[in-house]
Amino acid sequence: MSSQNLSLRLGVLISGSGSNLQAIIDAIEDYQLPGVEIALVVSNKADAYGLQRALKHRLPAIYLPSKQRNEGAQFIAPNFITPESTMSENESQLTALLHLFQVDLVVLAGWMRILSAAFLEQFPQRVINIHPALLPDNGTGSTFTSRNGTQIPVFRGLHAVQQALDAGVKITGSCVHFVTPEVDAGPVICRDEVAIEEGDSEETLHERLKVVEHRLIVKAVRGLKVLNEPG
Ligand code: GRF
Repeated sequence: MSSQNLSLRLGVLISGSGSNLQAIIDAIEDYQLPGVEIALVVSNKADAYGLQRALKHRLPAIYLPSKQRNEGAQFIAPNFITPESTMSENESQLTALLHLFQVDLVVLAGWMRILSAAFLEQFPQRVINIHPALLPDNGTGSTFTSRNGTQIPVFRGLHAVQQALDAGVKITGSCVHFVTPEVDAGPVICRDEVAIEEGDSEETLHERLKVVEHRLIVKAVRGLKVLNEPG
């Protein structure tokens, strides 16, 4: 939380369409997130539509090209990647920017880069991510038990929506969780289940998941704002 004012300043990191960024913008403009402001939007893709959304709302937005260490391996077998302990040059630049803009909470809203432990240490318990699959409460483990008692595998990394379809499960969902050095394995802040329908494609299912995510990300930010309020 910024010391000069009591607002919670968000740094929203994106790589794509930015519909979750838009959900936060809309909630702020609709007075649903009092005391929350977007301090900076960062995209690692120059053509991310989310950058246009940010600029349309006159938010500071920057394109920061980044090269992923472990390129290629990162999302294929996320569980087998050794978390990086040192910061890359990109992450040092990102850290400097987030500090310069006095960011309190970093929101990964479709950010397609793994962050090192060293980066995360700069923002302890202050980096959250939206993941389009269901994670257990503490984020770890390989199964999730749904509300109706069904056990389903935990899908991490890239193409989590397709992974759920390929596994033939009937329920999936999205969650907002704290980011830890292990990919998609941090404690869950909030989540919701979504039924998989006959004939769903990755696209149709992801669209329905995003509707849920737009609500979840606002709820998570609101909850963290309240938690950070003094006294
Ligand atoms: C979301 O579905 C989120 O779960 C995943 O990336 C997607 C980003 O979508 N991490 P958008 O750019 O916010 O539309």
